Amino acid sequence: MKTPNMINAKKRNVKAPEYISYDKKYSNFGKNKKYYVRTYGCQMNEHDSEKIKGMLETVGFTSCESVEEADIVILNTCAIRENAHDKVFGFLGVLKHIKDTTNPDLLIGVCGCMSQEAVVVKEILSKYKYVDFVCGTHNLDNLLSIIKNKIDTNKMQVEVESYEGDIVENIPVDRDSKYSAWVDIIYGCDKFCTYCIVPYTRGSQRSRKKEDILEEIKKLKEDGYKEVTLLGQNVNAYGKDLYDNYNLANLLKDVSDIGIDRIRFVTSHPWDFTDEMVDIIAERDNIMPYIHLPLQSGSNKILKLMNRRYTKEDYLKLYNSIREKVKNSSITTDIIVGFPGETEEDFEETLDVVNKCKFDGAFTFAFSKRENTPAALMKETVSEEEKLDRLHRLNEVVNKYSNMANKKMMGKTVKCLVTSLSDKDKNKVCGYTENMKLVNIKGDKSLIGKIVDVKITDTKSFSLDGEYVE
Ligand code: SAH
Ligand code: SF4
Ligand code: F3S
Repeated sequence: MKTPNMINAKKRNVKAPEYISYDKKYSNFGKNKKYYVRTYGCQMNEHDSEKIKGMLETVGFTSCESVEEADIVILNTCAIRENAHDKVFGFLGVLKHIKDTTNPDLLIGVCGCMSQEAVVVKEILSKYKYVDFVCGTHNLDNLLSIIKNKIDTNKMQVEVESYEGDIVENIPVDRDSKYSAWVDIIYGCDKFCTYCIVPYTRGSQRSRKKEDILEEIKKLKEDGYKEVTLLGQNVNAYGKDLYDNYNLANLLKDVSDIGIDRIRFVTSHPWDFTDEMVDIIAERDNIMPYIHLPLQSGSNKILKLMNRRYTKEDYLKLYNSIREKVKNSSITTDIIVGFPGETEEDFEETLDVVNKCKFDGAFTFAFSKRENTPAALMKETVSEEEKLDRLHRLNEVVNKYSNMANKKMMGKTVKCLVTSLSDKDKNKVCGYTENMKLVNIKGDKSLIGKIVDVKITDTKSFSLDGEYVE
């Protein structure tokens, strides 16, 4: 058993990662068995789940649509806020019921960021003894041996490394989409924003080698993929830990040269966003004009307490430069309200930035205290009630501008990558514009997988309606 340790998780540069290739071989121990994976959290977790599924399939497991049919259920968890925890523990309760009643042989596993938290693993060990295995984010490539050990010994397996391990290339992956693919470019994060748990659950910043990334994207293009999204907690730091003279701007240029139709990237930290990066996004038609640029707060005092390393003025300068240079761009953001010490005036500074930027959209959150982060030691000064009130007021302003941004699209004919049938209306398909607006499109399913012209016929708060233009 190896349980997590947050103090070790904080240490950096213990050992430079080695770049190795996944070459593990196992017997077909999942033959005739079904798996169900539930994913919480960010795009990196979405992609890790594709790896979990990929690995399970190499030993014979096949997917199923519901937990009732499954022989193994894996929760790929997120630790970013308290409510992410609550959802996972709630779902574990549902699984216990299934194990107690209809399927005593059900295997239950916990992976992802929560498994890197010492308090969570302690809780699982004491109160959730029916969990069969816990696998950390740094040793995900060992998942199959952990499951196999559980099956062979019938003992709970807890294997969580607190130090980031090697960078493992070629982990089998079962992608959810045939048209749009996630591609990791950098793991971990060294920014240590004081509220955030990610630097502890995902370890230090480690870039993949550019050759490996470019190779993966060339292959995706050959396989018919139209879009890639480059992933990292802070993609703008790409290369800093690995190269002297090769950064995200260089990588974007090289990916663009491959000629895949659409290139996206998330998430960008304003601190590492250079003019060179803005220029390449502006220059290249296949780099999509959509940028997620988390603001977090508009108050310089709070930004400092958050350790965000920029001021309101720096943010606005970068924001305006992107808006000026990148044509038809759309910019979204993340904002936290109720950080310790945030006064009404500080909150109004945030509203001021929102009013100036008129974001296309924003993910807004109430501050949630995360164990072992520096902000957890700060005195909370904003009541839960006040946090919700600020959140509500902020959302009103945010929604006004996202509506306005959507309205601007009315009547335009834009390119959409059609990805699936529409969730809302099975007689429609849906897809994304270049600037990442979701469109429900009148058109049949033969459009799926294609980039087509769509005329926008109506706009809603969170989506657009459109018609396929032949
Ligand atoms: N790497 C990204 C963000 C990753 S987490 C960045 O640097 O911006 C996604 C969002 O969750 C963050 O942008 C932040 O707004 C929010 N978040 C992170 N920790 C939080 C906490 N403790 N409480 C509330 N929101 C939080
Ligand atoms: Fe968290 Fe900050 Fe890193 Fe984003 S940049 S993952 S908010 S520490
Ligand atoms: Fe959550 Fe981990 Fe992503 S904490 S946001 S799943 S990196």
